[in-house]
Amino acid sequence: MKVVVVTGATRGLGLAIARQCLADGYKVVAVGRTMTAQLDSLLEQYGERIAFERYDFSDCAGIHSFAVEIVKRHGRPWGLVNNAAIGTDGVLATLHEKDIARLIKINIEAPVFLTKYLLRGMLLNRCGRIINISSIVASTGFNGLSVYGATKAAVAGFTKSLAREVGKANITVNTLAPGFMETDMTSKLQDEKLESIRRRSPSGQLTSVEDAAHAVSYLLSDNAEHVTGTTITVDYGATA
Ligand SMILES: NC(=O)c1ccc[n+]([C@@H]2O[C@H](COP(=O)([O-])OP(=O)(O)OC[C@H]3O[C@@H](n4cnc5c(N)ncnc54)[C@H](OP(=O)(O)O)[C@@H]3O)[C@@H](O)[C@H]2O)c1
Repeated sequence: MKVVVVTGATRGLGLAIARQCLADGYKVVAVGRTMTAQLDSLLEQYGERIAFERYDFSDCAGIHSFAVEIVKRHGRPWGLVNNAAIGTDGVLATLHEKDIARLIKINIEAPVFLTKYLLRGMLLNRCGRIINISSIVASTGFNGLSVYGATKAAVAGFTKSLAREVGKANITVNTLAPGFMETDMTSKLQDEKLESIRRRSPSGQLTSVEDAAHAVSYLLSDNAEHVTGTTITVDYGATA
């Protein structure tokens, strides 16, 4: 059974991706810090087809050993979905240096390290799928999200060069850029700001985590065998 590692799978988009991967028949290694009732119910429903691996990505130095453990316990992964991230907001002039450093560490350094170490098994298998979760904010910009936006643009840049590097080994690397989704990350957005985001969409709707998870499902599938180095935007037309 193909193994897919999904980071930040305890809630929000990552949880929806884990659920979709299970429906698609993969074995899921769900990574995060805190078990949730929703993830627990997936563990109950799917038994051995899903495992929770606790890890805090603020510990970048431990990612190598963590990746080695994952491969030992679950085998070389077919897919890696780099989804875990934080969305700390604030205008740059007053954003604390430690918040800036944390955004860079969790959103960039950690997925780069995890990819580096899980890629080894994919190179040995001569196949694999890597999906990096970015955001439409990487290309549109959003007041108060300059550092977050920079990390999300970095993710898309990482995708492009890595796709070139590993293409010969039949490994695809793609970016998913979702529009605004109602998750814990965006729960602080005021009603009127949410309304203005909703108004930007031609359909007047926000992206759902399920919509975004369907795109991940496609990128992991055989049908996407020749799709690499690109960004798929799922945003209900907000950036059209
Ligand atoms: N929500 C949006 O509007 C939106 C739009 C575009 C793109 N995105 C992107 O979509 C992805 C998922 O976002 P979301 O909205 O689902 O966010 P969320 O609801 O806040 O969930 C974030 C996930 O990341 C994990 N995580 C955060 N810090 C971690 C750490 N230090 N170590 C390990 N895991 C950590 C969390 O797990 P634990 O708390 O259990 O550790 C959680 O599962 C992110 O890459 C985000 O940038 C979101």
